[in-house]
Amino acid sequence: MTKIFGLSGSLRENSYNTALLRAAATVAPKGVEVDISTIRGVPLYDGDLEVSEGVPAEVESLKERLVSANGLLLVTPEYNNGIPGAFKNAIDWMSRPPADISKVFKGRPVAIMGASPGGFGTILAQNHWLPVLRTLGMRPWFEGRLMVSRAGSVFDEEGNLTDDALRERLQDFVAGFASFVQGHDRTT
Ligand code: FNR
Repeated sequence: MTKIFGLSGSLRENSYNTALLRAAATVAPKGVEVDISTIRGVPLYDGDLEVSEGVPAEVESLKERLVSANGLLLVTPEYNNGIPGAFKNAIDWMSRPPADISKVFKGRPVAIMGASPGGFGTILAQNHWLPVLRTLGMRPWFEGRLMVSRAGSVFDEEGNLTDDALRERLQDFVAGFASFVQGHDRTT
């Protein structure tokens, strides 16, 4: 079984990005499981807190789930043409302590997708992630791209994906990334 850890960078109950991630889990090919999570519960990074209490339990749990997966799927909203601070904060916490970066991130396949109600579907936030992924030594999958624009028109009120053409693009995206993950498994 290939496991992909999917992390949505929104705290919103009715988040388009979390809805997109849930939809991704349902279209994953046979033999591929998408473990879905959000950044809920991650406190603001505080170096003093880290010294006094260590890495918070919520962050340790995200790290463990990523370590137990073969790849990472970041599902990013876009704020002011960049990465939302809360999402970057979660990844910053997950990169602590630096001695764990190798185990958690290094060489691990990663893909980025995102959804926005606007017309550009998080393209700038996705680009904004690239230097972060390089710094963490990850292996980005560049062969597929998924920018979901006009997100308000592709999900229903319960956050179910209602657009068949998008479901097909999402399915291709997840399958393409899964195949990249399978070809770059760190454990083989
Ligand atoms: C936004 N939004 C937004 N959208 C976009 O496509 N480009 C942008 O630069 C911004 N900027 C921005 C700044 C701030 C502070 C907020 C709160 C929002 C809109 C954003 O895409 C929208 O709120 C989404 O619904 C956020 O994603 P979730 O929470 O639905 O996953």
